[in-house]
Amino acid sequence: MASPISISVHKTPHSKIKGIDFSSLVFGKVVSDHMFVADYKDGKWGDFRIEPYGPMEIYPANATLHYGQAIFEGMKAYKNVKGEVLVFRAEANARRLNESAKRMCMPQIPEEIFLEGLKKLLDLDRDWVPQEKGSSLYIRPFMFAMDNYIGVKPSETYRFMIFTCPVGAYYSKPVSVKVETTYTRAVEGGTGEAKAAGNYAASLYPALLAQKEGYEQLLWTDGKSHTQIEESGTMNVMFKINGKVITAPTTTGTILKGVTRDSVIQLAKDWGQAIEERFLTVAALQEALEKGTLEEAFGVGTAATIAFIEKIQIQGKDYLLPPYSSHSFSKKVLAALDGIKYGEISDPHSWIIKI
Ligand code: COI
Repeated sequence: MASPISISVHKTPHSKIKGIDFSSLVFGKVVSDHMFVADYKDGKWGDFRIEPYGPMEIYPANATLHYGQAIFEGMKAYKNVKGEVLVFRAEANARRLNESAKRMCMPQIPEEIFLEGLKKLLDLDRDWVPQEKGSSLYIRPFMFAMDNYIGVKPSETYRFMIFTCPVGAYYSKPVSVKVETTYTRAVEGGTGEAKAAGNYAASLYPALLAQKEGYEQLLWTDGKSHTQIEESGTMNVMFKINGKVITAPTTTGTILKGVTRDSVIQLAKDWGQAIEERFLTVAALQEALEKGTLEEAFGVGTAATIAFIEKIQIQGKDYLLPPYSSHSFSKKVLAALDGIKYGEISDPHSWIIKI
C-alpha cells in the first residue's frame, strides 16, 4: 500500500552501529542512527523527514523551555528468530500521545503520521533492534512546542519526533520502593494521566530523597489524603493479595493509563485470574504485609516491563516481600508478554505490528 505521507530520507554517512556492544546495553545511553521529524505550523503537520540523529537548533525563547508543553511516549520493538522486527502495541501509544496532547493544549498527531514515521524509521534502523532475549529497541516518540515567544499561551508551532535506543533491562534486579506520603505526584483535575514532561520533573526531587535512603522508586499515594496507592515513578503497580491481583483504577485522571498495565489486565482476564481495578489503601497494604497475605508486588511499564518489588517502606518501616521464586502470576505474565513480543507464541489480541 502506498504510504499516506511522503517522508524524505537523509541517511547518515557514518553509522555508529559497529562501535556498539549489544551484549551489555545500558538503558537509554545509546541512540540509533536516525530520527523521524515532523513540524506543525499553520494548523497542519508537514515536512516529514528522517535525518541522522543529532543536535537541533532552538531559540532561547522556545516556549517548551519556559512553560513545558512537552509530552512523550515509550514503546518497544523486538526481533524474532527470523530477524523480523515486531513492534508492541504502537496504536495504543499513538492514541495515548493524543490524549496527552489534548490535556496539554497541543495539536493531535494523526495516527497514520505517527505509524508511518515509526515504520519507516524502524525499517531504516532495523539492524539496531537487538535479538538477545531481554534486550529490545526502546522507541521514544515525543512532541514539544516550537514557538519562539515567551508570552504565556499555547504555542502555535510544534515538533514531533521519534528516536530509538537499543536497551537492556531498566531495572536489572528486584526493586525496593518507599510509600510517599509527603510529596504529591498528581491531583484530580491535574495532569497526572498525561505523559507530560513536567510530571516527571516534579517527581525527581522526592525520588532523589528516597534514593538517598536506599530505595529505587516511590509508590505514589493520592494527593488529597495520601492514603491510597496510585502508581510508581516509572511504572504502574500491581499487588497480589490472597490470590487476587489489585491495581489502581485509571478513572480519577491521576494515573497513567499504562499500555503494559492494560496488557497485563487483558492476559489475566484471558486466564481467569481474578484482577481488580480498585484502590488499595496504604493501611490495607500494610496489613497484607504484616499478615503475610501479600504474595507479589510488581511494577508494569514499557521500560520497566514487569519489575519485581522486593521491599516496601511504609512510614519508616521496611517490609520484605516473599522471594521472587514464589511469584507465580508476575512470572507467568512476564513470560507470556515476552513470548508475544519476541514472536514465540500466538498474539491473541493482535498487539504486534511486523515491520
Ligand atoms: C516507559 O516505560 O516507556 C516510560 O516512559 C517510563 C520512563 C522511562 C520514563
